[in-house]
Amino acid sequence: MRLTPDDRLDLLRRARAVLDANWRGSFTVPALRQYPYQWSWDSAFIAVGYSRFDQHRAEEELRALFAAQWSDGRVPHIVFHEADPAAPYFPGPAFWQIERSPHAPSSHHTTGIVQPPVHATAVLHTYRHAPDPSRALGYVAELFPKLSAWHDFLYRERDPHGEGLVYICHPWESGQDNSPLWDPVLTRMALRPEQIPPYQRADTRAVDPAERPLDADYDCYIFLVDFFRQRNYDEGRIYREGCPFLVQDVLFNTLLCRAEQDMAELAELIGADPEPFKARAARTASAIDAKLWDESRRLYVDYDLAARMPVPVPALAGFTPLFAGIPDAARAERMLAYLGSPAFGLSTGEERSGFPASSYDRFAPDYSPRRYWRGPVWIQMNWLLMHGLQAYGYDEHASALRSAIIDLPRVGDFREYFNPETGAGYGAEVFSWTAALLIDVLYGEQTV
Ligand code: GLC
Repeated sequence: MRLTPDDRLDLLRRARAVLDANWRGSFTVPALRQYPYQWSWDSAFIAVGYSRFDQHRAEEELRALFAAQWSDGRVPHIVFHEADPAAPYFPGPAFWQIERSPHAPSSHHTTGIVQPPVHATAVLHTYRHAPDPSRALGYVAELFPKLSAWHDFLYRERDPHGEGLVYICHPWESGQDNSPLWDPVLTRMALRPEQIPPYQRADTRAVDPAERPLDADYDCYIFLVDFFRQRNYDEGRIYREGCPFLVQDVLFNTLLCRAEQDMAELAELIGADPEPFKARAARTASAIDAKLWDESRRLYVDYDLAARMPVPVPALAGFTPLFAGIPDAARAERMLAYLGSPAFGLSTGEERSGFPASSYDRFAPDYSPRRYWRGPVWIQMNWLLMHGLQAYGYDEHASALRSAIIDLPRVGDFREYFNPETGAGYGAEVFSWTAALLIDVLYGEQTV
């Protein structure tokens, strides 16, 4: 779709209005109705957008998140800064009961699980685009030890065999909550009704249930939270006492690897030693490349640590190792033959139809253009892959993803996710990272 200078200004104005609507004074909610608190990886992407026009907010965003960091280094996936009775959320603080852990903060209500570690990457981005670099350097120095403790937590608590790969223990930790990636693992859990604590969903109040996870999946989510709280969020116990969901996830490990690479750069900026970060990044990169690559499917796949088997599901996330420079050129070429095909809507030329990139192979039997993470396009996935493809020199594919980041909000509004065939918007409305990453891309075009 053609973008005139006036269209560009109008889009920027609308995107900023989304962020203004969701800004709560020191952080930004993903969407007021559906997600009325602070989410961990959302805030990182939101800071990326702010870094282009509001350094103060970019810094405040992650400062507010890290204010709720646990004493063991974990960064919680949600911070319940303020209870909003008009937007009841489940599971809320009363269900998580984080006070059972000696590491939980007493100053904040939070959840006890995590989300992908994209924060160091956001801090580096904020530094690079700061109008006032000396102030931004102070911000880097302030966040650096917190980011370091966060990554230490992951490697210490989530890598029991010292492989350089960390596991996630809940689908919500992946950021791809309802992905078909989790189906084999959740099915294997085969829960009995008495194992599931009583609860009432709140997520289908504001959004059409057809765009949300099924009740059976939700039972598993809630069972797992109950499993963690019964063990006081003690990571060692959760692992040893048979947590049924332990997955070495491609996206999570890729983002950790990239975040470690970015930590090395942050370390150099403030005169700290970059070497330990470079070494950890290299180790994680080799482990992803060796253990998670699926030669016949031409993408990286997750590994189910509890069942000791790969999870051979063709999810878009399987291509994200491009974002951390993990595959060599030959492997990247093999990946592109699949990623750049109609399966993900990213083919170039005549074959192109709809909008890239579908979050799941469009030819998989259970693909759905509408249901959460089972086909729809997500703007943050496009942003990650756009950068990855650009770094490997696949300019045409990168530019198709960039165009989709700009066009989808024009066709489907600032929604949470989009139909890859029509561009229709689904899920939460007035959604923050859709706006933030659009802003980043529009500003990026000016400076390229
Ligand atoms: C959904 C997404 C997750 C995101 C959250 C808040 O749960 O799957 O990635 O962080 O919404 O936007």
